[in-house]
Amino acid sequence: MTAVAKEYGEVTALRGADLTVRRGELLAVVGPSGSGKSTLLNIMGTLDRPSAGTVRVDGHDIDALSDRELSALRAGTIGFVFQQFHLAPGVPALDSVADGLLYSGTPRGQRRAAAERALRRVGLGHRLHHQPHQLSGGEKQRVAIARAVLGDPPLLLADEPTGALDSRSGAVVIELLNELHEAGTTVVVITHDRDIAATLPREVRVRDGRVEHDSGVRQTPRAPVPQEAAR
Ligand SMILES: Nc1ncnc2c1ncn2[C@@H]1O[C@H](COP(=O)(O)OP(=O)(O)OP(=O)(O)O)[C@@H](O)[C@H]1O
Ligand SMILES: [Mg+2]
Repeated sequence: MTAVAKEYGEVTALRGADLTVRRGELLAVVGPSGSGKSTLLNIMGTLDRPSAGTVRVDGHDIDALSDRELSALRAGTIGFVFQQFHLAPGVPALDSVADGLLYSGTPRGQRRAAAERALRRVGLGHRLHHQPHQLSGGEKQRVAIARAVLGDPPLLLADEPTGALDSRSGAVVIELLNELHEAGTTVVVITHDRDIAATLPREVRVRDGRVEHDSGVRQTPRAPVPQEAAR
């Protein structure tokens, strides 16, 4: 996205934000409350249109697309994980995830099979029939991630997925995002947690509606190669 501005009436949420995310990246978006992070993510995810500037997703200039075309692009390309879990009370995990395919025309049996695969992928194969009140916070967030990755979208956008979790459940969720990234998914994650952001390959800092700092893709710190193996 280039020179993106977003105004909500009197409020300017973004003022000239520039950000390019390449396929296969994993990056953290950090910044103070109210700085425009969620607005940035929603615009990147085509949930919202900018007031000015250019947004391109997968090569498409979203300005040139109708709302209908935009919905189709979004459905085929982007998975979302929100800070609140958005799980309907009383609905077992398997159905919660399977409902993500409700409007795709996929037959029920196939929806449930895909949902089961997605739940196994996030390590919840043993909790398929648990309802939200029977799941821990971290498990609920993993159900939400299973739903987001159900159609295997190339881009996953997560707004504070660890915000409501203790550090251990948060670490499990971040580990999961790392695994999805290693499997080829592009992942953008908003986080308040500096420690989490520091472990990710790229960190972008938003302040006052702009991208104030971009670490670029860092060399991931690795264990030093033993001398013998290095030769
Ligand atoms: N729908 C809206 N109508 C009016 N103002 C809005 C709307 N959405 C966001 N804003 C304002 O835009 C600014 C940026 O909001 P945004 O939600 O992007 O911040 P954020 O960086 O995600 O903050 P937080 O870390 O608290 O989630 C804030 O000042 C907010 O009050
Ligand atoms: Mg926010």
